[in-house]
Amino acid sequence: MPGLPEIFDMSNPGDFDAGISAAAAALRRGGLVGMPTETVYGLAADATSGGAVAAIYAAKARPRFNPLIIHASSVEAAERLAVLSPAALALAGAFWPGPLTLVLPKRSPTVIADLATAGLDTVAIRVPAHPVAGALLATLDRPIAAPSANRSGHVSPTTADHVAADLGGGVAVILDAGPTGIGLESTIVGMADDRPRLLRAGGLARSDIEAVIGEPLAAPGTTGGAPVAPGMLRSHYAPAARLRLDAGEVRPGEALIAFGSGLPAGATAAIRIVNLSEKGDLAEAAAGLFATLRDLDAVAEAIAVAPIPDTGLGEAINDRLRRAAAPRD
Ligand code: TXA
Ligand code: MG
Repeated sequence: MPGLPEIFDMSNPGDFDAGISAAAAALRRGGLVGMPTETVYGLAADATSGGAVAAIYAAKARPRFNPLIIHASSVEAAERLAVLSPAALALAGAFWPGPLTLVLPKRSPTVIADLATAGLDTVAIRVPAHPVAGALLATLDRPIAAPSANRSGHVSPTTADHVAADLGGGVAVILDAGPTGIGLESTIVGMADDRPRLLRAGGLARSDIEAVIGEPLAAPGTTGGAPVAPGMLRSHYAPAARLRLDAGEVRPGEALIAFGSGLPAGATAAIRIVNLSEKGDLAEAAAGLFATLRDLDAVAEAIAVAPIPDTGLGEAINDRLRRAAAPRD
């Protein structure tokens, strides 16, 4: 039996350096670290070690070897791993560090373990904006592979408690930096073929990206029928409770996820109500979404979700809600 993770409170200045040292040491040994980023908590491993990357799949109980996001300390570090076109460099310059992942042609030879890219000739890279992730990358001085730190198919973790609850024994160190600021995974843009493609809506709005590249993002497209972002299975981000989207009323036995100042009919009978943002702010709603799904999952078997606008970060919020509501596969 693996032991319990060592947890460091990174908001306490006296623990910060000790947490970074312990996490870097665990990564060098091939261990796993719960790492805060500005989007969600990641399950970090040394991306250059096949054994360490294999431990990620085992801890998450991932059914197959989906490729992982590689976290780099800077644009220069990313350029050592992948080829950035002028358009990719423009996006990196505008949004790194930040909640944007670019899928890029992989350089070869590469230090990245094959298992981390699932044998593809592309690599998904981002430079995270969180000071803890930045300090860990700088100290380790190697790229870090990190998917979201949840069991496969579960809702992504936005607090250290979520990481411990989902993965406890498999993780050597958890760096607790409080709730993540953005609350949704990074936006993934494919930059490896003829045009930029939105592979996953996320914490950076489509319109911000399109303003930099000067053209609309294309749809993912398919390679031989396989999804281009293989992690984009329909049923993903799934709570156990059933979700009913765009609900105009609350039915008996349901909890309610509300948005904005109005409540749907029957709201007073809801088992519990969580309003993602009374003032109708999509960034605030994104930050609370995954914790709300976890909280309501613990008290209700059915959840009604009020309509949420599809603009800005609403595109990613609605994408995650549709996946959480999809029939389970
Ligand atoms: O915000 C985030 O992106 C978080 C934090 C921890 O950085 N990470 C995250 O990783 O969400 P994960 O593993 O849960 O999602 C990775 C996504 C998957 O959908 C995967 O299929 C896609 O990235 N991906 C990775 N490499 C790819 C590649 N070479 N081509 C296409 N998609 C790729
Ligand atoms: Mg994930």
